[in-house]
Amino acid sequence: MSGCKLTARVSGVGKALPERRLTNAELEKMVDTSDEWITQRVGIKERRIAAEGEYTSHLAIRAAADALEMSGLKADEIDLILVATSTPDMVYPPVACLVQKALGAVNAGVMDISAACTGFIYGGSIAWSMIRSGLMRHVLVIGAEINSSVVDWKDRDTCILFGDGAGAAVFSAHESDTEGVLSIKLGGDGRFDELLCLPNSGCRPFPEISGRHIVMQGNETFKQAVRNMYECAVSALECAGLTSADVSLLIPHQANTRIIGAVSKRLGLPDEKVFVNIADYGNTSAATIPIALCEALEQKRLKRGDVLVIDAFGAGLTFGAMAIRWV
Ligand code: COA
Repeated sequence: MSGCKLTARVSGVGKALPERRLTNAELEKMVDTSDEWITQRVGIKERRIAAEGEYTSHLAIRAAADALEMSGLKADEIDLILVATSTPDMVYPPVACLVQKALGAVNAGVMDISAACTGFIYGGSIAWSMIRSGLMRHVLVIGAEINSSVVDWKDRDTCILFGDGAGAAVFSAHESDTEGVLSIKLGGDGRFDELLCLPNSGCRPFPEISGRHIVMQGNETFKQAVRNMYECAVSALECAGLTSADVSLLIPHQANTRIIGAVSKRLGLPDEKVFVNIADYGNTSAATIPIALCEALEQKRLKRGDVLVIDAFGAGLTFGAMAIRWV
């Protein structure tokens, strides 16, 4: 036994995206919008849409299989599978169970997490605590969504924003005083429960709203997003004894380039230290951060010793940030 602290590092990542691309030009034919408006106000050029019969579990399984392969672990070494999603195949069984079956992760506990777009960070925090406490060694955290199933395709305020996709990361035990997950800040503000809702998705009926689709107050959500993402990032850095000057890469939730720009500006981070891929996928809710993490690694934007901050907000409100010294 070394005298080092037990913490977690990310040992593998994966992503899965549906083939079908829905471009702004196609949306122009569906609602009263324009490529110019969407590009300037939100920063999205296209998003992926699941094929008929392609569900959240399918994307989650593909992303998870890639993350597992990169980690070099066998499926039976995974102790816990967490799937952050707001669009599960069904409320139960949890999607995590379907992933467990497909991978053959016979020794894993399974649970879905409902924390909207912040779900991956909540999942990562559970993974970190389980590993830090010595209870578990390897936790698979997945963010997966089929947002196209809950979008009102006649509502231009929301239908342009969202896309489908999944990302996954394996958190593994690592002994170090300086590397791996350094800190976490989780938060919520239930006073703003009505800003972003998915009515008719649970036991409470909303007879005034026909069907099940996202309802959002965009402007106020925007303001809350900037404030809470900024404050969470600062808190997580403070907990780790760091400031934004130490950050090598920020991976923010991909909801709007103007939100990302405002948070980065407040943190004093130049563009090259901020990962943005919203143009390609839109807002994939709980999947944005693990997809972006996967692409940041593909693009060699992270090397050992770098300070990475992942930072998200979502309906609820929920918010959270995690600081990691990359290893
Ligand atoms: N195409 C063209 N025009 C649109 C449009 C669209 N898709 N959506 C809205 N507009 C119009 C509005 O009707 C409004 O027109 P008006 O001035 O004639 O009334 C105008 O554009 C401005 O609307 P507004 O809502 O003030 O725009 P905005 O700059 O706030 O951008 C959002 C709207 C939704 C892009 C922005 O508020 C946002 O990103 N909010 C956060 C949403 C979010 O992150 N949700 C997910 C949380 S995880």
